[in-house]
Amino acid sequence: MSDVYPVPDRVRIGTNNPITSMDTYRSAAAHAQNDPDQFWLDETRRNVVWRTPPTLGVSGNFRNIVDSPITWFADGTLNITESCVDRHAAEHPNKVAIVWESDTPGEGYNITYKELHQQVCQAANALSGMGLKKGERAIIYMGMVPEAAIAMLACARIGAVHSVVFGGFSAEAIRDRVRDCGAEIVITQDQGLRGTKAIPLKNIADQALQGESSVKQVLVVQRTGGDVTWVDGRDVWWHDAVGNASTEHTAVECAAEDPLFILYTSGSTGKPKGLVHTCGGYITYTQYTHRTVFDLRDDDVYACVADVGWITGHSYIVYGPLANGATTVMFESVPTFPDAGRYWDLVERHKVTIFYTAPTAIRALAAQGDAFVTKYDRSSLRVLGTVGEPINPDAWEWYYNVVGERRCNIVDTWWQTETGGIAIAPIAPATPTKPGSATLPMPGILPVLLDTDGERITGPGEGRLCIDHPWPGLARTVWGDHDRYGAVYFTTFRGYYFTGDGCRRDADGYYWITGRVDDVINVSGHRMGTAEFESALVSDESVAEAGVVGYPHPIKGQGVYAYIVLQPGVTGSEALAKELNLTLRRLIGAHARVDLYQFVPGLPKTRSGKVMRRILRKVAEGEPEKLGDISTLADPSVVEAIVAGCKL
Ligand code: WT7
Repeated sequence: MSDVYPVPDRVRIGTNNPITSMDTYRSAAAHAQNDPDQFWLDETRRNVVWRTPPTLGVSGNFRNIVDSPITWFADGTLNITESCVDRHAAEHPNKVAIVWESDTPGEGYNITYKELHQQVCQAANALSGMGLKKGERAIIYMGMVPEAAIAMLACARIGAVHSVVFGGFSAEAIRDRVRDCGAEIVITQDQGLRGTKAIPLKNIADQALQGESSVKQVLVVQRTGGDVTWVDGRDVWWHDAVGNASTEHTAVECAAEDPLFILYTSGSTGKPKGLVHTCGGYITYTQYTHRTVFDLRDDDVYACVADVGWITGHSYIVYGPLANGATTVMFESVPTFPDAGRYWDLVERHKVTIFYTAPTAIRALAAQGDAFVTKYDRSSLRVLGTVGEPINPDAWEWYYNVVGERRCNIVDTWWQTETGGIAIAPIAPATPTKPGSATLPMPGILPVLLDTDGERITGPGEGRLCIDHPWPGLARTVWGDHDRYGAVYFTTFRGYYFTGDGCRRDADGYYWITGRVDDVINVSGHRMGTAEFESALVSDESVAEAGVVGYPHPIKGQGVYAYIVLQPGVTGSEALAKELNLTLRRLIGAHARVDLYQFVPGLPKTRSGKVMRRILRKVAEGEPEKLGDISTLADPSVVEAIVAGCKL
């Protein structure tokens, strides 16, 4: 049995959390399970600003998602920016909403709620003036500047649907997303800055938009003043269009189930899916989980160092914290610039009380030694969060002992782009923790473990992680393809939402995520589909076939291992491997690279021609002795060659 860590006194005392103990947790969870409608209606009426408060809870169910889609609060109307901005600008105008930590330490600035309100109104007026209407889509391709959050909120304010594309993605990836959602407007910046490295965001966006006629206008924030390509008549500077707009704007009334945003994410097969989150349920769920899990207090300084290009940035840099009237940090840089002490320097300078990052960063920083941490004053810290991948107990212990000096609670938060917000995690002042476990479900989340036959596992055991009942934050559909939504999430195990993760439940009912059980890999907290890698690789003229799998990596969590069958006459080399990584960068983005290439005579296939991915995985995991039954292989000699040439 692993160690249990009680909640440190500092985290327990002084809270005004609705959940302060395991008893209150159990009663909230029971209430949410027995009467989900009432639980969430009470929650949303209390903490979200509605124009027409809803009287309806959930409708639809997981058994027939295609004919009876999930809705929450369907008769309510609202504009979520009134929850995120207007009420706080009225109640505490001078409270800092956004602390911007610029790439170079000390060059950032703060934005108060009053200023945020003015700037969101200006941006909303500018976007309307450019012709963007309710229900239309805007792509946001930016780095971590305050204007990224302002652009998201401005879209929401006019009822337009944003889709943020992470600033590491390639022109090809942007074009795919522009086409898929039929975007009318692109919002970008001249250049992004990360550790003094300039990323030519505007020029990449321009490449993406060549020949794309749906996009009528491009709004460009000037961040560095670097040279950019420019299309007269289409492109507009933010400081001209937004800077000169009126600071007054009446938010557009939206239905609870109107789409708020689309966020693309990778799955096992095909191109990334545009998951759709809707206004009422998403804002209800993100504000609730943010306030509860992190135990938000009035004077907290909250820093989530993720990027707005991913769901973590949407839910826990922008929407959740702002809905709660919190002070939220936006971090433009990287954890190792100017050195590996950057996060703790940030904590000291801004007196950060809640800090939220990914296990990969914790592992990378732990490897640099404790001096980078202990050099800075971390006495302000109270809650330390992690997200994105399983955290190994060693990294957990380092975070707890060295960074938090045993005074902070660690909240290991399990969730997904699809869940909208945190689904399994400790509630800081209430839940005793165990290193490596995401602990217990949020009220309203009913995790179920199923075996491969779909049988429910009760008590301790390990299986596929599914969820039994809709919660408000669940993504409602895949943009333009509701059937795909049904097929991907609700057909593997009928009647349940299937997460794609494996999971163990211990004797205390604690959950331990074991990682993906599908063909999705998680590299440094970035979710990628092996099929996307494979299709990019085979587009290279030297490649005949490619099989891509993940393998355990000490810092990144998973590394990417590619088996490549070359075209006749081509020979494998270091140079070719480099060239293939450039192809991946061009087709997917800077964050997509293969760590290990193995050139092989063929891929292991069954006699019917199906690639046996299990074999590729076992070899890449360094366990060729566990290949299992290979008698169905068409050509067993291929496996011998693969095992003999293994790169590990
Ligand atoms: C996948 C979702 C949720 C925001 C960031 C990632 C993995 C996420 C944890 C955790 C173990 C985790 C899962 C999940 N994951 N958090 N605390 N422990 N695994 O969002 O890109 O949609 O990826 O990330 O495998 O399915 P995402």
